[in-house]
Amino acid sequence: MWKIEPPLYNRQGNLHLGKSDLVELADRYGTPLFVTEENRIRENYRRLNDAFTRRWNRFRLYYAVKANNNLAILNILRQEGSGADCSCIPELQLANLANFRIEDMLYTGNYNSDEELNFAAQLGVPVNLDDIDILDRLAKFGLPETICFRINPGFGKGGFDKLVFAGPDAKFGITSEVAERAYARAKKLGAKRFGIHMMAGSSVLDVEYFGQVTDRLFEIAAGISEKAGIEFDFVNIGGGFGVPYRPPEPDLDIERVAAEVTDRFKQRFEGAGSVPYLYAEPGRYLLCDSTVLLGRVHAVKFAGKKFVGTDAGMNILLRPALYGAYHQMYVANRMNARKKEKVNIVGQVCENSDILAKDRELPVTEEGDVIAILNAGAYGYSMSSNYNTRPRAAELLVRDGEEFLIREREDLTDILDRQRLPGRLLK
Ligand code: LLP
Repeated sequence: MWKIEPPLYNRQGNLHLGKSDLVELADRYGTPLFVTEENRIRENYRRLNDAFTRRWNRFRLYYAVKANNNLAILNILRQEGSGADCSCIPELQLANLANFRIEDMLYTGNYNSDEELNFAAQLGVPVNLDDIDILDRLAKFGLPETICFRINPGFGKGGFDKLVFAGPDAKFGITSEVAERAYARAKKLGAKRFGIHMMAGSSVLDVEYFGQVTDRLFEIAAGISEKAGIEFDFVNIGGGFGVPYRPPEPDLDIERVAAEVTDRFKQRFEGAGSVPYLYAEPGRYLLCDSTVLLGRVHAVKFAGKKFVGTDAGMNILLRPALYGAYHQMYVANRMNARKKEKVNIVGQVCENSDILAKDRELPVTEEGDVIAILNAGAYGYSMSSNYNTRPRAAELLVRDGEEFLIREREDLTDILDRQRLPGRLLK
């Protein structure tokens, strides 16, 4: 969306998200501020869900809670019919608080502690295991009826090297040989239902890849079925569906992705006695373009280059500093400006990696302007921190011009909340 496209609009020179004027919201709620458009999340969910369900009706989505753990977002997705993919105990607890049923949750941890395994066993949540040894440790606490293993299909793909989660260097998953033993063991220990899972990479815009990696998972699944004598209730292809961040990246053609994946299901299972469910667990695709991060320009400096300093630095949006990620930006109050220049958009953290955009062409910017950073809905708030003792941002949900503050801005109380001072240090 390199032209201004819905849910973004330019009205009288101010950037709007849906019906909400982002400049006005920055004035009223302060910055840094994440503004999320509810209808967009629902549209994204429906587009993805429809594309798959039309082709393979035994399909289920599980929202990957790690993308953003706000209860409002969890509840929106639950209302749409989503399940919840959780990576740890607090995410399971949040899904519970958002009224997801236990059977609508998945628990995919890695290098789990005994405490986590015990919690999962007591909850009875379907568990996705990352190693055969963890199965035996889990069995000590009681084996859930449904057992799934995360497979390393041998290759993966990601928007950055750091977002490739499979292949020889990955810390995730088990090989097909280990998997054959693992499922046989789970069967012996009394597991009733079985699933198979992979999550080979994130932020992928290559349509064919989704078919290729599904092929590989099916090959591995067939070997396991034969060797361990089990049938799979579900095949979980993970998340990974990319969104365009950087011009001129195209939208991911989700209809074609669904066709690539479901064609493989049809080839293998159409007319078969037992037909598995297809699961996917997207995070990015559902949330990314629903949310704009707003930062206020506090100071502009010329030092060889022009540096535009905002309060939305790496503490608020880590992706540019961590991955070199590109986020499209606008000056929200200068949408009609003609005169442009190349600037560096930076934050206020004492690190030189606190640069959100390098040599970016933007309207001539002054103190008081509002920088709008797009595609901040997934892994934005959830990866933010208190680094440099800066409170985390607020999150605002908008829909049809109405707004609701779904997470208050932090202040010093939050930073002090858990700190304890030994009395002797008061002297
Ligand atoms: N399932 C599992 C087991 C995962 O680990 C993840 C993401 C997902 C599903 C959802 O993946 P998605 O649909 O969002 O690609 N911090 C990075 C992204 C890391 C993703 C980690 N796992 C970023 O900012 O781009």
